[in-house]
Amino acid sequence: MDQKSIKAAVTILRAGGLVVFPTETVYGLGADAANAAAVRKIFAAKGRPADHPVIVHLASDRDLTRWASDIPPAVRQLAERFWPGPLTLVVRRAKSVSDEVTGGQDTIGLRVPSHPIAQALLNAFGGGIAAPSANRFGHISPTTVRHVREELGDRVDLILDGGACEVGIESTIVDVSGGTPVLLRPGRVSEEEIEAVLQVPLARPGAGSPRASGTLAAHYAPRLPLVVASSGMLDAVVREQASRGLVAVLARRPRPSYSSATVWMVGPQDAAEFAHYLYAGLRQLDQCGCTVIIVEAPPETPDWAAVRDRVGRAAVGSAEPISAGSEARVG
Ligand code: TXA
Ligand code: MG
Repeated sequence: MDQKSIKAAVTILRAGGLVVFPTETVYGLGADAANAAAVRKIFAAKGRPADHPVIVHLASDRDLTRWASDIPPAVRQLAERFWPGPLTLVVRRAKSVSDEVTGGQDTIGLRVPSHPIAQALLNAFGGGIAAPSANRFGHISPTTVRHVREELGDRVDLILDGGACEVGIESTIVDVSGGTPVLLRPGRVSEEEIEAVLQVPLARPGAGSPRASGTLAAHYAPRLPLVVASSGMLDAVVREQASRGLVAVLARRPRPSYSSATVWMVGPQDAAEFAHYLYAGLRQLDQCGCTVIIVEAPPETPDWAAVRDRVGRAAVGSAEPISAGSEARVG
């Protein structure tokens, strides 16, 4: 690892600047979580509304009391099992935490990432690093440095390169700030694994749940309209869409010889591998000169829950009503 870059990143963070760093899930756009002015720069760079909370990344679970006012047993149990790793826990915030970090809520999202560069940075910095995904608001999260540059260009002071992120989609988020733990966002750490540790079923977000931009129906969207088609309907939907434009397909099986799709990308059969390639694949399809992306619906099994969630949001977020005669949006 490049110690000089880590040092430079720490200097920038201490001066209130922005550093993009790799995590095992996606790239994060980081600022000193204890510096409200620095955190405000994150929102400006992303074009993100100020009332959305950001996750605070920590080197370990040692300093939880600096950020959380109440640490229920569920936090200790989940931290022990899944940290460092792709799990974010929402807990009651400590008084000293700024409204910029929490979006004005009385909770805070905390995560200890496992990526060696994130770990090196957090250990060298010593404090918490506030970091949402390093993309413009509403776009697909970046999983490589090239994606980060496409999204943020020169809006950041430094980018640490860690290659392609292993998990490829954002962390699982569990709200443990109330009585019943709530799954706010599915991810690599599955609902079943969490329930096995807590020995209680996870609830779904209700009206009283905290706001989370990643839980908006329309989010994680490519620029092209995206349509999800069941495996059985895939050929028919491709044919229908191809009568009006150029079709890009993301499927789990090879292209049939008769298909009228312009581009056909085959994703892995394994859910975790599919997640690893999902955002990079969608970005590639977004830029292939087609007018619509059709994704074969992921299987309904629990291991595909996180991929189903992201593909579903991408469809809601990107699709303009596609009907006969309407122009599909490009770029
Ligand atoms: O994998 C990840 O979680 C990545 C990497 C960089 O760690 N980060 C990430 O951050 O995805 P972001 O901001 O793009 O998504 C974090 C989600 C948002 O939906 C945010 O609203 C939610 O976490 N969140 C953060 N703090 C929260 C809180 N106190 N209560 C409820 N939701 C919270
Ligand atoms: Mg995000």
